[in-house]
Amino acid sequence: MTSAEEKRLAAEAAINHVSDGMCLGVGTGSTVELFIELLVEKVAAENISITAVPSSYATELRLHDAGIATLPLGRVTSLVCAVDGADEVDTKLALIKGGGAALLREKILAAAAQQLIIIVDSAKLVDKLGTRMPVPVEILPDALALTMDRIQKLGGSPRLRQADRKAGPIITDNGNFILDVTFPQIPNPARLEERLNVIPGVLENGLFPTYADVVYVGKGKGATLLQR
Ligand code: 5RP
Repeated sequence: MTSAEEKRLAAEAAINHVSDGMCLGVGTGSTVELFIELLVEKVAAENISITAVPSSYATELRLHDAGIATLPLGRVTSLVCAVDGADEVDTKLALIKGGGAALLREKILAAAAQQLIIIVDSAKLVDKLGTRMPVPVEILPDALALTMDRIQKLGGSPRLRQADRKAGPIITDNGNFILDVTFPQIPNPARLEERLNVIPGVLENGLFPTYADVVYVGKGKGATLLQR
């Protein structure tokens, strides 16, 4: 089974959480793109009304093209649920996110959601965070040298994420840089999340230690449900 097939199985499981009249947070990434396809099918088949709150320009454009009404993140304090992908999920449902550089808005969405539903393929499951993915950290461009220095003092090895088909670094939807930080180990993701976020110039980081309520992992004939 390919990772795309597994992602689709996870997205199919999450679609069951959608109901008529819902205002739903929608994250970013290739798994979420499959979820949006299924959302469009469900809205048409059941003639229901959905408003979506996107976590990125990429998702906003897809929703718009698909004819799904959107509400800006900046207008939302609370949502019944949000659906998003992840780069790593550990055994306690702590996550690393930010592979698509949307982690800042994704964390705002996660904080607003009463239930955060994560959809992943099985390759995303890890025993320990940091195994297959560095921790993305969104920083103010003017804080580049200072944040790199402070992150090194925390034991991390930061690399400025480079853009594809643009010279120089990636610029996020919020006008910032991303540092991808490798740590030799992450024994306490919640503590590291806090320590990164108090560095001046750090806007947010991709550690989501306690946000996920439900994780659907696509594999085999369906999706496995992991719950906090
Ligand atoms: C974007 C994210 C994505 O949810 C994460 O990178 C997973 O992406 P994909 O579904 O394409 O594997 O955090 O910032």
